[in-house]
Amino acid sequence: MCGIVGYIGDKKAYPILIKGLSRLEYRGYDSAGIALLENVDKINLYKRKGKVQDLVDFIGDESTVGNVGIGHTRWATHGPPNDTNAHPHYSGNSRIALVHNGIIENYDTIKEALIKKGHTFTSDTDTEVLVHLIEDIQENGGVSLEEAIRIALNEVHGAYAIVVISKDEPDKIIGAKKSSPLVVGLGEDEYYFASDATPIVEYTKNVVYLEDQQIAIVDRKNGLRIISTSNKEVSPYVQELEMELEVLEKGGYDHFMLKEIYEQPRAIKDSLRGRLNAKEGWVSLGGIKDYEDQIAKANRIIIIACGTSWHAGLVGEYYIEDLARIPVEVEYASEFRYRNPIIRKDDVVIAISQSGETADTIAALNMAKEQGATILGIVNVVGSTISRITDAGTYTHAGPEIGVASTKAFTTQVSLLAMMALMIGKKRGTIEDERFQRLIEEMEMLPTKLEGLIEKSNEFCITIAEKYKDASNALFLGRGNNFPIALEGALKLKEISYIHAEGYPAAEMKHGPIALIDEEMPIFVIATQGANYEKVVSNIQEVKARKGKVIAIITKGDTTVKELADDYIKIPDADDFVVPILATIPFQLMSYHIAVMRNCNVDQPRNLAKSVTVE
Ligand code: M6R
Repeated sequence: MCGIVGYIGDKKAYPILIKGLSRLEYRGYDSAGIALLENVDKINLYKRKGKVQDLVDFIGDESTVGNVGIGHTRWATHGPPNDTNAHPHYSGNSRIALVHNGIIENYDTIKEALIKKGHTFTSDTDTEVLVHLIEDIQENGGVSLEEAIRIALNEVHGAYAIVVISKDEPDKIIGAKKSSPLVVGLGEDEYYFASDATPIVEYTKNVVYLEDQQIAIVDRKNGLRIISTSNKEVSPYVQELEMELEVLEKGGYDHFMLKEIYEQPRAIKDSLRGRLNAKEGWVSLGGIKDYEDQIAKANRIIIIACGTSWHAGLVGEYYIEDLARIPVEVEYASEFRYRNPIIRKDDVVIAISQSGETADTIAALNMAKEQGATILGIVNVVGSTISRITDAGTYTHAGPEIGVASTKAFTTQVSLLAMMALMIGKKRGTIEDERFQRLIEEMEMLPTKLEGLIEKSNEFCITIAEKYKDASNALFLGRGNNFPIALEGALKLKEISYIHAEGYPAAEMKHGPIALIDEEMPIFVIATQGANYEKVVSNIQEVKARKGKVIAIITKGDTTVKELADDYIKIPDADDFVVPILATIPFQLMSYHIAVMRNCNVDQPRNLAKSVTVE
């Protein structure tokens, strides 16, 4: 959580920092701040509770002079969101300013020791402790800023990405990272720091993704130098960004979430490109090609993820067990890492993550790696931590997802898992040729079907949203590989509209949730034609007998459920295999419209952040 930016160069830093913070606002948006180095005697530091725009309004006509600066947008960990806890934080002598993303776990002990030495603190944050520690080391040891930072980072435990400026070394900006991401952008005589590449892409495509325990020192004369926290020189590995600026803009949509819903046909097309060919009858995932044999021979596949990515993992379990006949366990990363799980060397562990930066998923992966398992990743953000620590992996190619609620990342994750199941099934000979061919044809038709579905269902979803927007509770039901879609539908509704919602396997309803049903309760049911159709129809009858309101997702041409349901949305006729992807769309659209009608902040729901980089 939290987004950080930094700039040194000849341009005015202020607009660059503000624009960068707006791009990173998805990472946290409870307070924001900037520090601009005007001269050796002056840092202009402004911070404010609220969003980046509140900060801009607060700064108003104040001085924004300076071509070195740092900025921060916060998701609170230590101390409530307020002006004082907002970053940047000053050292005691106000000569050093620092922004931080992460958690310093031993801040309490360090703080006590510093208080004994006479330091006083104004905020509740762990970050202020770190900047005081740097100051203390510098003053008592008579060392440079860079050396003080290096020594301090060896004393702290936890996660950090920091960027630091100092009045005493005005031609320098220093960044460092461990467990939280930090990218350095290399322009012409100018350098950028940011939590991800989105604030940088507008200015340069050349970037260096810092590795853990690396410190990047930029000075105007000598440019970029990287050292490790153990003081070894590191040669910067410069990569070229593939991201285009347009994908970071709303492009005429009211919200990023809506734009990203509409992008799904394109995103899935990109995800399938070069990996599946129905005409020639093959599926191949380049990124994990070298591990195909190992996966096919695995005794067990463990999928670890959080939130929406965990739901995608659950669909993957249905796919892989059905087509490849390998046992799959889907684990919440946060539980897996703390419950002493049995991990064997012939296990294949797959992490699924949009951001590639989720702290629990990274920790669970590292644990599996230490115990000798093969670790693979299904990740969206190119160059992210998970993509770098895994043995191999495959990118979803959804493109940047800015809305906090995951949409296109989810459907592309599911598409990748579908391809993976087909690939392993083919290799193991557990899927008949005719079914293999039929399913890859279904996959190839997905982008076209999705396009039509989004266009046709949006209006229906608006009408349905209007009808149910004032509900206090909702239930989402699905069976088989649509059960995870019910979970995902419920998560989408609750996270952006704050309506309490639960997802259940349809048949489980009668073991408890049925008690909640009354005429006020909307029940969203996936009732498409296919293996579980008759059973789901019975579940709908059970709801109707208790006067619940049924909103059904049905297959085009269906008449039975159409008659039974209060409202329905049609999806195109398709094999059960791809229905989870199609059925996701109406749930996304309905949640979106309900949230808009309830005046909720769709792209930045309260209390949430896009990347959960703290445990
Ligand atoms: O970046 P990740 O996929 O690892 O993130 C995991 C969850 O935090 C994420 O899926 C979250 O649940 C979504 N914002 C929900 O829409």
